[in-house]
Amino acid sequence: MEAQVFISRSQSLLDGRDPLALVDAVLATYSKCAIAFSGAEDVVLIDLAKRTGRPFRVFCLDTGRLHPETYRYLERVREHYGLTIDVLHPDTQQVEDFVRAKGLFSFFVDGHQECCGIRKVSPLRKHLAGLDAWLTGQRRDQSPGTRSTLEMLEVDSFTGQSGKPLLKANPLTWLSSDEVWQYIRERGVPYNELHAQGFRSIGCEPCTRATLPGQHEREGRWWWEEQTRKECGLHSRS
Ligand code: ADX
Ligand code: SF4
Repeated sequence: MEAQVFISRSQSLLDGRDPLALVDAVLATYSKCAIAFSGAEDVVLIDLAKRTGRPFRVFCLDTGRLHPETYRYLERVREHYGLTIDVLHPDTQQVEDFVRAKGLFSFFVDGHQECCGIRKVSPLRKHLAGLDAWLTGQRRDQSPGTRSTLEMLEVDSFTGQSGKPLLKANPLTWLSSDEVWQYIRERGVPYNELHAQGFRSIGCEPCTRATLPGQHEREGRWWWEEQTRKECGLHSRS
């Protein structure tokens, strides 16, 4: 079903703001649908999908720069839920050319967009071209600057397998960080050990750091850049 049609038929789901109902409806409608799992608290999506009893896929963009803790965590989640996780890698030639030209830490000098483009966005674009829908763990409260108008269902700017824009579902849109953590604790969901070390938002190792009390979680990401630029291109919104 075309993304726009699905969205226009889903008004009651959108009004209900129930993450489980949304995950269930998306998985029931789209067989070529996958969860984008970053290895952080978005594990809640996997738990929700499991509760629907429907088949689903999971992928993780392995930039080659994730924390060792995150790799260990991916493995724990895989075992805990008995999942297959598609761990996607960037194009080898592109990475080699980029690192040869600019070294391993160019993002500290000229910004994260080029590195994220090669290590995250290109592999994502390629993967989404085989899908009709995807589910992300984005929430409104994650980034006041860029996600405050997020919707639970969107027509994505990426192209799916039909050659048309695919459906992007953000079931956790309306949950707060506290509510996500309450869910994780109540259901005994495994979590990334970095969270116990003060990391709240988790991305690549060189570009993520723990936050201090009172800081917003997004301040732990690309901290040397302006607040308004803290998106890597996975979630471009008009
Ligand atoms: S990012 O764009 O700034 O990196 P963020 O870390 O907030 O994104 O995560 C939001 C959602 O984007 C995650 O819940 C997940 O759905 C998706 N995502 C982010 N990073 C990855 C990744 N490495 N692999 C798969 N999905 C990811
Ligand atoms: Fe590169 Fe940092 Fe982006 Fe990871 S978050 S892809 S290391 S710039």
